[in-house]
Amino acid sequence: MCGIIGYSGHRPAVPVLVEGLRRLEYRGYDSAGVAYIENNELTLLRAEGKLSALESKVAGCSHHMATSGIGHTRWATHGVPVERNAHPHRDNSGELALIHNGIIENYQEQRQWLSERGYTFASETDTEVLVNLIAEGRKHTETLQKALSWALERVEGAYAIALMSIHEPGTIYAARQASPLVFGKGIGENFVASDIPAFLPYTREVVFLEDGEMVTLTPSSWEVCDARTLAPIEKEVHTITWDVQAAQKGGYKHFMLKEISEQPKVVADCLTGRVDAASKAVTLSELEGTTPPKRLHILACGTSYHAGLWGMNLIESWARIPVRVEIASEFRYRDLLLDEDDVVLAISQSGETADTLAGMRRAKEMGATVIGLCNVVGSSVSREADHVIYTQAGPEISVASTKALCSQMTLLLLLALHWGRQKGTLSAEVEERAVTGVMGIPGILEAELPRMRERAQELSRKYSASRSFMFLGRGLQFPLALEGALKLKEISYIHAEGYASGEMKHGPIALIDKEFPTFALALHDDLFPKVKSNLEEVQARDGRIIALTHPGLDIAAEDVWVIPEVWGPLNTFLVLPCLQLFSYEVADYLGKDVDQPRNLAKSVTVE
Ligand code: M6R
Repeated sequence: MCGIIGYSGHRPAVPVLVEGLRRLEYRGYDSAGVAYIENNELTLLRAEGKLSALESKVAGCSHHMATSGIGHTRWATHGVPVERNAHPHRDNSGELALIHNGIIENYQEQRQWLSERGYTFASETDTEVLVNLIAEGRKHTETLQKALSWALERVEGAYAIALMSIHEPGTIYAARQASPLVFGKGIGENFVASDIPAFLPYTREVVFLEDGEMVTLTPSSWEVCDARTLAPIEKEVHTITWDVQAAQKGGYKHFMLKEISEQPKVVADCLTGRVDAASKAVTLSELEGTTPPKRLHILACGTSYHAGLWGMNLIESWARIPVRVEIASEFRYRDLLLDEDDVVLAISQSGETADTLAGMRRAKEMGATVIGLCNVVGSSVSREADHVIYTQAGPEISVASTKALCSQMTLLLLLALHWGRQKGTLSAEVEERAVTGVMGIPGILEAELPRMRERAQELSRKYSASRSFMFLGRGLQFPLALEGALKLKEISYIHAEGYASGEMKHGPIALIDKEFPTFALALHDDLFPKVKSNLEEVQARDGRIIALTHPGLDIAAEDVWVIPEVWGPLNTFLVLPCLQLFSYEVADYLGKDVDQPRNLAKSVTVE
């Protein structure tokens, strides 16, 4: 869960690398480093902490003649986050430098083997083992490329790596296995990185590398080959249509706030080309020629898992398809019951989440069909799924996922309508109300977001001293209660639990007192009377309540937050930004690092 970048071209390399790392910082940020060759010397600059620490070091060094190099921003897996464990790592001779995102699972065994041959190690990392293994490989092979291949054959695990050598200035070797890696094709310069924004100011031409592939790049050439046999592989060059602007803050204090504010456009973009305004027909061309699943398993992690729980309700109700929603890290190790009749829907913003990928691979092995619902074009989920539906939310930079969930919910709603129509289980009335209603959501959200932010700000001032929070909801609002709690804990570090309101009496109510407030989702639906009585139980224990509710409802709470009512399930689209903004305002008020919360990374590419 780190970010890597390699550059070889005509510009001073170090500023290109540091700027690229800035755009990859969402992937990890506990240390960073660069390596470059200048005056026949291979120099490493590394610093513990955020990228600014590396920038200070870079500012004090000579590097202006270096036109190639590699850079890394780290999220620690092996070894504490200190400078000696920061990447790049050198081999014992000091001739090679390597950066790595992933985990080499058999590194202890390889370290032992190398130690017996006289190698020594200055860090606790698996990466330093790999770079020395490549150096050892050089003794058994004629070229560095062959040595890299030799070493990769001996390691197990996940990696995206980039390698440079003092003996081949201007050449970078990169390879991937189960960690993301893209090649960027420029004019007189070439790039490799974990993610496209790293090099997007310089080129829009990209090649998505697959597991087991290696790319060799110089300023004027590039070649992809099989990492094992070194046989050349023909690759398609894709052109990226979004720009760096879309991945920048655009005047907002934080990416999270920008991304919350983008949700009206996100819903509109998800509907474009999929919903016909006149006929109200939903077209998912991605599923053309397919029939509705007999059984559906939704597989996801974190916020995407909450999307799955929400979508299950609609798919079961409108398309009458039995749905199981599974946490991917559990699913991948269960004794599964799956066959050709099963369809797995893997939901992932990044499309690189290791657990979700492993789960979908198992499902494929067992004969199930996999549909990927993801945001990042060309990601592993999108490439490995049998069918892929893109959420089209644009790049999501803040570690806390916001607009991605909104887009996932929109697509899940369309999927339920699509399968319901195919199966004939969807009533014309529901179809009409759902389609007309969802088309109106962007306008309503646009109008409401400023008011929501104001209310979130007021409440954040009042409640940010709380040490714990309970989020309650029932039915379609239960996954939202889980999401509200996840958002609050991940960016403000306030303990929070999401619960189904009816479960309170089975245990958690014991926690309630004046110091433990409850954020209740008490909307105008069939379950409102039940939620109301659940909240009365909380009040009877002196619990303080924020009730997010609809106009005209009679609810007793210390703070009532009224939002407009729309049709049925669509209310969730208005609940979601309130929860996101509440967490955002609390975290910002507490002075937390909203976009890069501690211990987290945007894309969890390790187990
Ligand atoms: O990229 P994915 O949707 O697969 O990511 C899944 C989770 O890691 C992600 O949703 C995580 O929980 C977020 N930090 C939540 O805000």
